[in-house]
Amino acid sequence: MWNYSEKVFDHFMNPRNVGEVDHADGIGEVGSMACGDALRLSFRLDADGRIAEARFQTFGCGSAIASSSVLTEMVRGKTLEEAARITNEDIAAELDGLPREKMHCSVMGREALEAAMVDYFRKQGRDVPCGLLQQSTLLCHCFQVTKETVRDAILTHRLAEIEDVTNFTKAGGGCTDCHHDLGDLLRDCWEKLAAADAAATAPPAPAGGLVELAPLAPRPEVAHAPADAGVVARIRAVLDDEVVPALGADGGGIELVRYEHGRVYVRLTGACAACRKSDATIKGIVEEKLREFVADSLQVVEVNH
Ligand code: FES
Repeated sequence: MWNYSEKVFDHFMNPRNVGEVDHADGIGEVGSMACGDALRLSFRLDADGRIAEARFQTFGCGSAIASSSVLTEMVRGKTLEEAARITNEDIAAELDGLPREKMHCSVMGREALEAAMVDYFRKQGRDVPCGLLQQSTLLCHCFQVTKETVRDAILTHRLAEIEDVTNFTKAGGGCTDCHHDLGDLLRDCWEKLAAADAAATAPPAPAGGLVELAPLAPRPEVAHAPADAGVVARIRAVLDDEVVPALGADGGGIELVRYEHGRVYVRLTGACAACRKSDATIKGIVEEKLREFVADSLQVVEVNH
């Protein structure tokens, strides 16, 4: 189970500024309402160009509601330039923190704000100032993890495999589309680590002589979820009780394919199988429920065969 701050609970139980601003100057939408993880944010400027009102509608978890709610309070009174400097870490900090697994909710808030600002400039027929757009690059779209976050994790924890990166950052734990980029980044980072290790441990080179390179530091052990026969029964129960009714409401369904080493392989059926944002369903609904009720280390992987 994750620990939530009082502020997260407060904003979840009493969300501020729900709805849509009348005659909004900018409206931004991210995610997909049809698939379970979506946020729509609208704002109106006053005569001085400051945000007079911001409202949100979300179809997401408690952390998404809390992140959106607090964001609408944070932007009020700010110019667009000031609001653009709010990062997803600022949103999480304003809530006195979010569980690491829920940081993508604050990223969704930041993205919806950015989309609303872009909408404002487009409606005005003006170019969007570059400074308004976030500089970091999303590497894993399933989990909204940036390249910077992954690079930091690899360098800090000396992560050697994609699986290690997924354990630390969640990047790569969904559709696997980003695995190629993760592989490139791992190679990049390990070249830097190897160079740093060699520089730190190699004896000074004799003038004109050959330098013997130091071996790479050993790869750290990565913890894996232990196999547990009872886990499968609990997974089935949670899917039947919590997930199937939610997906069934939209004409979708889900089947458990197998469970192996902390990974739950599932197949989406019905409307969910054809949905372009099925990764959001897998991560935002299925994995979230399984982590909440079975074990918070579980990863859910969609299979199509
Ligand atoms: S984009 Fe990274 S797992 Fe889907």
